[in-house]
Amino acid sequence: MLSVDGAATVAIRYLDGPAGAGERHPSKDFRPSAAPIPTSQLLAALSTALDLTEGQLPGHSLRTCFVASRLALRLGLPDHDRANLFYAALLKDAGCSTNAAAISQIFGGDDIALKASQATLDRSLTAYAAFTIRHLPLTEPLPARLARLVRIALSGTRERRQVEQTRCERGAAIARKAGFGEDVGSAIADLHEHWDGGGLPFGRRRSEIHLFARILAACAALDVFNSVRGPAAAIEMLARRRASWYDPEIVDALLADAPAILVELAVPDLAARAWALEPPSEVRVSDGADVDRIAGAFADIIDAKSPFTGSHSRRTAEVAEALAGRLRLGSGALIDVRRAALLHDVGKLSVPNSILDKPGRLTEAEFTIIKRHPEMTHRILAPIPTFASVAELAAAHHERLDGTGYFRGLAADGLAIGARIVAVADVYEALTADRPYRAGMSMSEALELIGTMSGDHLAHEVVAVLPSVVSERLPAGPGQLATSAAP
Ligand SMILES: [Fe+2]
Ligand SMILES: [Fe+2]
Repeated sequence: MLSVDGAATVAIRYLDGPAGAGERHPSKDFRPSAAPIPTSQLLAALSTALDLTEGQLPGHSLRTCFVASRLALRLGLPDHDRANLFYAALLKDAGCSTNAAAISQIFGGDDIALKASQATLDRSLTAYAAFTIRHLPLTEPLPARLARLVRIALSGTRERRQVEQTRCERGAAIARKAGFGEDVGSAIADLHEHWDGGGLPFGRRRSEIHLFARILAACAALDVFNSVRGPAAAIEMLARRRASWYDPEIVDALLADAPAILVELAVPDLAARAWALEPPSEVRVSDGADVDRIAGAFADIIDAKSPFTGSHSRRTAEVAEALAGRLRLGSGALIDVRRAALLHDVGKLSVPNSILDKPGRLTEAEFTIIKRHPEMTHRILAPIPTFASVAELAAAHHERLDGTGYFRGLAADGLAIGARIVAVADVYEALTADRPYRAGMSMSEALELIGTMSGDHLAHEVVAVLPSVVSERLPAGPGQLATSAAP
């Protein structure tokens, strides 16, 4: 990553207004931009997807970043550590999607609501038992609910430890793979350990827990409690958990500034204030390769949300990039197509797994929730200044040429070639992948079905080159990529 002098000060919106359902935004009007992006802006925007997966108010990661950066100044951390802490805060929930399906399955409900409720839960057995009983699915018959309760009680800490370990290790691996160092990875891995050894997954104690994790755990909880229960409860929680959950020195330093910081969290220009706390000598700017690495990391986060979308985003990106090359798009447009394909389903991180992984038919209400995900994709990506084109291409992947798609109902004249390519790649990948309700189609079956969609749904000019592209790139059989799609 490059380093530049001076902190970025671009104001950024976070899911703060309608994304324009019903408006027309012809994606062909946008020009691709390969300009470097301040890494803080890129991560802050993408971190809102992590907030949604955790059931937190959008901006939670950014607020945690702000609080942690202020605390780091008080603690006198050197610039290099403050910079790593800054990025660790924005990526702290990178493993959030890996336990979503398991949580939904264990409790039989909406993982996002469960996680939101769990975030303010005490760790006593009584509190956990009450939480479990409260969240048993009312839609299940009583015997099934009782059986579920017994199963949760018997598996107890062992199952929670496994779920937590997956989340922490996977999140740390994703951050390292995205180009962030060992300190950032360790901060994520240790995030849910407690000062007195009572945390998960390993029961690490005191200085065995990475300093950044000790800082971030307290700062993140402060924001969560402040958002849900107000400033007095947030401060009381910190004091109560001093020397049990959290490092007492960190709590003391945080409590000294907490009343003022909590007031500041509500200011409209918080993003700019957070950027200003990034040590100027350590400010990072992501060049093309960095952006691709970060987009790839978020593709892995998206795909990890459901066991049935194991490598959907990466495979869609491979097909889309190959299609763009065959159709002779310029290099800038090809880059935008690849990034849009990697991130097209980022909005799905806001959809509960009880819907995403449902084996039967979706109800109308559930389908309405699913249909919001391209709009959420747009809301997440659009605040990144140089992602204007990427946001439009990605958010249009469920549009149809005849205007019957979603979320804007764009028709042919509003759908640029890049958007048409991502849509075809998405359908091809979805058809050839295994899903809860059916096995994946063979290449020839998928191509035949896609042929029937050409014209009114999918773009003829893209469908026309799909057979040659996938037969060249995917010779290994149904749904198999010739090149590695491993997360
Ligand atoms: Fe989608
Ligand atoms: Fe998709």
